[in-house]
Amino acid sequence: MEGCKSNLMREMMLIVLCFCFMSNYAAGESDISKKEDVEISRLLKILNKPPVKTFTTKYGDIIDCIDIFKQPAFDHPLLKDHKIEVKPTFPREGMGSFTTPDNPWSEIERRKERCPLGAVPIRRTTKQELIFGSKYHWEKTKQRNSNTYPHTPMYHHFASIQPVEGKSYYGGHVIMGVHNPLVTPEQFSTSQMWIQNGPEEQINSIEAGLAVYPKLFGDNITRIFGYWTADGYKSTGCFNIFCPGFVQVHPSITFGELLEPVSVYKGKKYSIPVEVYKARASGNWLLSVGEQVIGYWPKELFTHLAHNASIIRYGGIAGALSGSPSPPMGNGHFPEYRDYDLAKAGFMREMKVFNEAGEIVYFDFTKAPRKLDTKKDNCYKLYYYSYISKPYTWNIITYGGPGGSSCP
Ligand SMILES: *[C@@H]1O[C@H](CO)[C@@H](O)[C@H](O)[C@H]1NC(C)=O
Ligand SMILES: *[C@@H]1O[C@H](CO)[C@@H](O)[C@H](O)[C@H]1NC(C)=O
Repeated sequence: MEGCKSNLMREMMLIVLCFCFMSNYAAGESDISKKEDVEISRLLKILNKPPVKTFTTKYGDIIDCIDIFKQPAFDHPLLKDHKIEVKPTFPREGMGSFTTPDNPWSEIERRKERCPLGAVPIRRTTKQELIFGSKYHWEKTKQRNSNTYPHTPMYHHFASIQPVEGKSYYGGHVIMGVHNPLVTPEQFSTSQMWIQNGPEEQINSIEAGLAVYPKLFGDNITRIFGYWTADGYKSTGCFNIFCPGFVQVHPSITFGELLEPVSVYKGKKYSIPVEVYKARASGNWLLSVGEQVIGYWPKELFTHLAHNASIIRYGGIAGALSGSPSPPMGNGHFPEYRDYDLAKAGFMREMKVFNEAGEIVYFDFTKAPRKLDTKKDNCYKLYYYSYISKPYTWNIITYGGPGGSSCP
């Protein structure tokens, strides 16, 4: 077993080296040499551990049930002595009910399949997803016409809102609209929350929410995703469970879970609560979606996020390979100023933060700057409202846009 472990570490180092080399090129499969190809296949076998049970979802996803103590997270050297938090406390005290009538979760709860006691679900990864998801991120991508990251082929835009910076935060809560912007295989579009701390070049970041991301998931369905880095998106971290780190605890829901139905433009709206928060007792960063704790990012993974977060952000990212137009964000329609009809644009509502006292509170929207990387409103827009009466809700954003050629 011990020999096995060190062998594994050596292989993972090798892969990391390969990825460093690869990142000078487009991250397409065609750019991978025979040798790297062999190594990636081997890593794939390591990440896709022998399952105790396997089931297939109605969309054809293969879910492997892995012994909870043998899941990929524990191959991380910092988690060697990690004490697994098998039953994270949820619902939290004083939480009330966030259940929304337009919650698409019921579909998932109807699914009978779950892993046997002592096992957790891990979505089986394809080689392409692994290549992309383990070492690639939009923050490494560049904006068109910028030379910040000249070697990467992707660029992106974001539209977000951020409660006042510099305080100590212990998590974020949001009810996210569930949208399915139409993207091509070269594009991606997210609705997400950022939890961050530290200076830019070594920023610790946890990002989670919903994404349409063909390079990660192999299709254009809206799915749950997560991401972490502890060194400014350089060498630590990855999407989902594409590298050791995230500890899966939920017996049936994991990254890649798809959400349906999705909101219809000017029609029925669907939304789902998403939270990332620091568990008081353990200090781990828990991810809950639809009031279900999926799992957590252990505190050992982080430096600056070990104690608290200084930045919480909510919004969307839309990106594409250079040469492809910018994809739609939100539901693909521009929000209109003072249009309170949430069925017309991408929306998030009930945005809150976990404060130092351990309370979940609305933050002051008047002091929360909008953060958009496009100066002109011809690309993506974001409006915020402290309160609208129908539906009765607080701290709302409407955001997004069609992208396309108007969006350089
Ligand atoms: C989305 O996926 C479906 C099924 O694979 C495909 O038929 C459709 O063309 C895709 N849409 C886009 C915009 O790529
Ligand atoms: C929050 O985290 C920062 C950086 O890790 C630390 O310096 C600070 O003392 C923490 N604040 C509290 C209230 O724990």
